[in-house]
Amino acid sequence: MGLPRIMVVDDADELGRVAADLVTDAIASTPAASVVPATGRTPMKLYAHLAARREAGLFDTTPVTAVQLDEYLGLANSDRRTLFGWMDRSFLQPLCIADERVIRLPLDGDLDEACDAYDRDRETRGPIDLAILGLGENGHLGFNEPPSGSEAPTRTVELSPMTIAANAGYWGTEADVPTRAVTMGMRHLLAARTVVLLVTGERKRSIAHRALEGPIGPEIPASFLREATGEVTVVVDRAAWGDR
Ligand code: F6R
Repeated sequence: MGLPRIMVVDDADELGRVAADLVTDAIASTPAASVVPATGRTPMKLYAHLAARREAGLFDTTPVTAVQLDEYLGLANSDRRTLFGWMDRSFLQPLCIADERVIRLPLDGDLDEACDAYDRDRETRGPIDLAILGLGENGHLGFNEPPSGSEAPTRTVELSPMTIAANAGYWGTEADVPTRAVTMGMRHLLAARTVVLLVTGERKRSIAHRALEGPIGPEIPASFLREATGEVTVVVDRAAWGDR
């Protein structure tokens, strides 16, 4: 454990390249890594770089296991808005990760029970090797909305108005954004061996500083990364960090 390493880069393009170096190194040192790939807009350039490197034969993702971070509730599998679909298009297919190497979140049946079972299974598998995360404007990680403690389990959540407003940008309007979701719990993200948190754009400036420099607590779930057990690197662009 140590304080997060903060890498300030010029812009979103450089962020994609720098993050691709970090992820390539992490997978080179643990070829059969379990990887949590966030969806959202921030990591898309990173995933494009990884796909190009794989295509060029620079990097092998065959033994990697992808572990789903979060998903909306109440959508059909074929719905254009599922986060699984987004992960599939941006990460699984471009990196040729086979179906049997994907661990999905529970979406059916008694979800409280299913999430407990998921967490028990997660404990037996051991820590995630690499979590690639984005930062919500309210400080969420995955859909661990504030307040979320550091031990928060995998569970169903109500999305906050701020998250619904932000996600409206993905799908159209706020009415297009489901209000409930399931998220991998904070406890698993904070136990990851390596965390790469990606932050871009001026809209994230206030929350980036609060998460990395303000009080640590459930009101800003990402602030707990400063107490995480693994190696945490934050790659942030100048628009999100400022010039200092
Ligand atoms: C998405 C996710 C969210 C996003 C965050 C930032 O799977 O878990 O926590 O990472 O909301 O989203 P963007 O990157 O679109 O700003």
